[in-house]
Amino acid sequence: MAETQKSKEGLEGIIAASSSICSIEDGVLRYRGIDIHELAQHSTFLETVYLLWNGQLPKANELKAFEAEVNDHLMLAEPLIAAMKEFPKKANSMDVLRTVVSMMSFYDPDTGDESLEANKRKALRLLAQLPFAVTAWEHIRNQRDPIFPKKGLGISANFLYMLRGKEPTDLELRTFDQALVLHADHEFNASTFAARVTAATLTDMYSAITTAVGTLKGPLHGGANQKVMETLLAIGETSNVEPWLKEAFARKERIMGFGHRVYKDGDPRAKELRKMSAALSQELQDSKWYDMSLKLEGLVQEQKGLLPNVDFYSASTYYMLKIPFDLYTPIFAVSRISGWTAHVLEQLSNNRLIRPRADYTGVKSASYIPMSQRS
Ligand SMILES: CC(C)(COP(=O)(O)OP(=O)(O)OC[C@H]1O[C@@H](n2cnc3c(N)ncnc32)[C@H](O)[C@@H]1OP(=O)(O)O)[C@@H](O)C(=O)NCCC(=O)NCCS
Repeated sequence: MAETQKSKEGLEGIIAASSSICSIEDGVLRYRGIDIHELAQHSTFLETVYLLWNGQLPKANELKAFEAEVNDHLMLAEPLIAAMKEFPKKANSMDVLRTVVSMMSFYDPDTGDESLEANKRKALRLLAQLPFAVTAWEHIRNQRDPIFPKKGLGISANFLYMLRGKEPTDLELRTFDQALVLHADHEFNASTFAARVTAATLTDMYSAITTAVGTLKGPLHGGANQKVMETLLAIGETSNVEPWLKEAFARKERIMGFGHRVYKDGDPRAKELRKMSAALSQELQDSKWYDMSLKLEGLVQEQKGLLPNVDFYSASTYYMLKIPFDLYTPIFAVSRISGWTAHVLEQLSNNRLIRPRADYTGVKSASYIPMSQRS
């Protein structure tokens, strides 16, 4: 396929709409103009969500009020928990999340109201309740009762608390919260763009977010973080990295967690996650997964010129946080819900149906052939 044709197939480099939420320029990722490195170092997830939704950082009283609002909406509707208990225990965790998000519309008091204020309330409920949906599924599929959120803990500490039944250490909390900051938005990535396409038909918030969750699941997008951990576990030992990679390249396999459509000189989020993975392995005094990742990174770069993306070091980071690896992609959604909803609201604020054209390459013109004359 010619280079131009290949680019066209994936809408590569196409500016699909204007947006003031997130930018990627010269390899620098910014939310509302603020460099992701600054946010990762100084901000918190909830403050970052406020920034994405409102366009500016909150003042102290605004953040407090926002945290209180989130804390008031942490629980899923009771019938939804009952419904989850009926799901097949082996169901894929992203399929479960997609179904729960879709079902949330049945129980949202604002369903049917498409006003801006109602949509903001729906966004808040989605943000607040996804952590419970993800962690509740971990317990339900293991025949346990879900652990309910603690009111004052907010999103990140509650996620780890509800998952593991004990509150996280400071380093665990800071690491997880930073990971959510790093995943919160990313311009017109596939799931966000899908959400905007859906929202632009003037359907509803839950339909748009259901679309987004389904899109995130794919291994070329958010599903890569789980695949990275499967790769590391398959490799098993740092000494196996080189022969494993040789065979993977011989099989022409894609190495999960490497490469990016937009960043060609490295994904800035990977740099932050690499530091987080290193800090955790130091704290645990077990650097196996970090060392293995580092070795794989070096060899893939040397042999293919590919650099790690956001999913590469999030895998070892989450593994060291003792999170089951099929929850890594749902965690991506727990964070990216902030960006998805910001983009849906932005799309609706200046909406036009998104309806591109295709470059038709089929038969130019053909006549209908009656069945009896077809050979
Ligand atoms: C992210 C990704 C889909 C971007 O893809 P893209 O911009 O469409 O680039 P292409 O798929 O056209 O790849 C360009 C070339 O690099 C190669 N390549 C890209 N990523 C690769 C990877 N992870 N492993 C091996 N080869 C890779 C492709 O095989 C292709 O080679 P070719 O031109 O010889 O066929 C791609 O890099 C990928 O599949 N990565 C692995 C999955 C992943 O980590 N996804 C999370 C993204 S944040």
